Amino acid sequence: MKILAFAGATRAESWNKKLIKIAAAGATAAGAQVTLIDLRDFPMPLYDGDLEATNGIPENGKKLKALFLEHKGLLISSPEYNSSITGVLKNAIDWVSRSEPGEKPLAAYAGKVAGLVSASPGQLGGLRALVHLRSILGNIKVLVVPEQASVSKADQAFNPDGTLKDEKQRAQVEGVGKAVAALLAKLA
Ligand SMILES: Cc1cc2nc3c(=O)[nH]c(=O)nc-3n(C[C@H](O)[C@H](O)[C@H](O)COP(=O)(O)O)c2cc1C
Repeated sequence: MKILAFAGATRAESWNKKLIKIAAAGATAAGAQVTLIDLRDFPMPLYDGDLEATNGIPENGKKLKALFLEHKGLLISSPEYNSSITGVLKNAIDWVSRSEPGEKPLAAYAGKVAGLVSASPGQLGGLRALVHLRSILGNIKVLVVPEQASVSKADQAFNPDGTLKDEKQRAQVEGVGKAVAALLAKLA
């Protein structure tokens, strides 16, 4: 039950970086082994077919894909940019989806289980980004659990230590991590 957890954000004070820790804690409490990573540690050029044809997948894309391959589950906390996911997240998804010689198509995604959460200072909490993310992942053969959580007014929702002020909301976010761990356990 290995789960890779990350936010679709890079900035240091990202609300989604705080939120992913809470979802990850839910998965850990349910018995999963969670690896929390920061996409800032995997800077990559924007996907470009010519670049790929010349140089292959960039080093950080390969490193990220290797991590995906080592984990059966994914937990993602996505910001919402202009009603969708961030360019950083989509670019990472795109590079990781590229096959290398001898690899099956979508090797890093097919058969994975994912859970989604989001946070935004806005009223919808990033919910519209999750609609897109669920669709993208479903189309690349990832099973996304129905449980999800969106934290609205994120700029007021967290305590200084990164915990959520609202207990019910904390349980809901942890519940997404738990749901991924529980489904992985059933599938094992
Ligand atoms: C280019 C851009 C577009 C944005 N569009 C939206 C949006 O459509 N909906 C929304 O709720 N917030 C939007 N925001 C505000 C983000 O939710 C806010 O910057 C948030 O803090 C980003 O997530 P993070 O804290 O994890 O970095 C946008 C921010 C940027 C920079």
